[in-house]
Amino acid sequence: MNNLQTIIILDHGSQYTQLIARKVRELNVYCEIHPYNHPPQFNDNIAGVILSGSPFSVNDPESPKPDLWFKGKIPVLGICYGAQYMVSAFGGKVQRSVTREYGRAIITSADNTCKLLRGITIGSQVWASHGDTIESMPEGYKVICSTSSVRYAGYKIDGEDTYAIQFHPEVHHSVEGKKLLENFLVLVCGCRQNWTSDNFVTTAVRDLKVKIGTDRVVLGLSGGVDSSVAAMLLNSAIGSNLHCIFVDNGLLRKYEYESVLSSYRGMGLNVKGVDAKQMFYTALQGITDPESKRKAIGKTFIDVFDSEASQIQDVKWLAQGTIYPDVIESCSVKGPSATIKSHHNVGGLPDYMKLQIVEPLRLLFKDEVRRVGKVLGLKDELLLRHPFPGPGLAIRILSDVTEEKVRILQEVDNIFIEGLKREGLYNKVWQAGAMLLPVQSVGVMGDERTYENVVALRAVESVDGMTADWSHLPYEFLAEVSNNIINNVRGVNRVCYDISSKPPATIEWE
Ligand code: XMP
Repeated sequence: MNNLQTIIILDHGSQYTQLIARKVRELNVYCEIHPYNHPPQFNDNIAGVILSGSPFSVNDPESPKPDLWFKGKIPVLGICYGAQYMVSAFGGKVQRSVTREYGRAIITSADNTCKLLRGITIGSQVWASHGDTIESMPEGYKVICSTSSVRYAGYKIDGEDTYAIQFHPEVHHSVEGKKLLENFLVLVCGCRQNWTSDNFVTTAVRDLKVKIGTDRVVLGLSGGVDSSVAAMLLNSAIGSNLHCIFVDNGLLRKYEYESVLSSYRGMGLNVKGVDAKQMFYTALQGITDPESKRKAIGKTFIDVFDSEASQIQDVKWLAQGTIYPDVIESCSVKGPSATIKSHHNVGGLPDYMKLQIVEPLRLLFKDEVRRVGKVLGLKDELLLRHPFPGPGLAIRILSDVTEEKVRILQEVDNIFIEGLKREGLYNKVWQAGAMLLPVQSVGVMGDERTYENVVALRAVESVDGMTADWSHLPYEFLAEVSNNIINNVRGVNRVCYDISSKPPATIEWE
């Protein structure tokens, strides 16, 4: 990504920092988040800096104190804590506010001659979240907007392209927030807004060609969006020198292995399917503890992957589907570190393979990965699929895993998922699946008394899986699915629907 105009977001630990980055990217400008105490090397590509908010008060002795050596040299936008810090560090005063400003505020005055506020209207709603407020400003700081309760809601420093606001333009409830950010990026920083999926694909393919040349690359496909898009990108760059491995761990959904494998082949990927079901079942035999199941699956996966990868002659690279949230999670403000999380499914390859790592998606957020996938022609059936855990159905069987239990759960899950698709509900829920409970219950079928398994259905609405609410699926739909399951899946005589939110529950039961 050379010569790419870049906005640097210095993170002071705010919960909204990632949101700033996503908004900037939505405006087609490339940006990177860096901890305030580990800024990157500056070069000519850096078009501006955004200083994030923070949970700290600037008056707290422990508060983040970034070195602002670049202020006055390149454009800067301070947001909330960033605004307050530039006041307190240069002779102004920030104090605990008498009336704390949380939530809705209304712009009561705005200087529209100022580039940052061009087109921002009086009466516009903004979102604030601060317990401190600016009491007095250093010399040369000029107020550019106020809200109903805050006089110095925004300022500009004379003779510099330095701007700051005490509210949060990045959150949805700041109605003209995106316009304000766009003003900063385009009018103040001169950004060209050319960070688009098409451009990303062109540049990434070109860079991958240079980086990898005629070397061979191995990649583990999971059926998920990230590894599929990573594979397509590499395939565009190096074609059949990309060797993909797709492992059937026996814990996938019904028909998943066959259908995903044939989709991959249809996309022109050089992919080898490996049926390792029995190895996984053997490794899982008798294990009931969820974490032990995950470990057994992870270890078996590495064994299978290693043995397949080592059969490819002269392989030099291991490709991973790491995406940007994984990268920034591993270099947080509280504990900056250079270690990058490895993909949960692949990792720990033996040293003798000495593979270099290539992560073509490491700059992208999830929604950007989807857009890139669309540009690359990834089919909706892969692009829009629900998340599915790496350990698969093993963590949806709440007891030891056997082939027979997997079969029962696959049938149940398939009826539920196909029903969601048929009724147009699949894309309305974020994730759905079924759990096989370690409980038998009494039932009656015909004249016979039964004593069989209980399953629970779970469907949730979520944005990122961190929090979730149960989906309010129509009763009629649930009734039909329940009937279908009990009538068609031998071994199940009772169906429950999970109505817990996360927190306090989690999405998976194990
Ligand atoms: P929880 O159960 O933590 O799930 O609320 C949040 C999201 O993470 C997925 N999940 C996993 N994914 N390996 C994975 O690859 C795992 O061990 C794992 N456990 C949970 C879950 O499906 C949901 O999307």
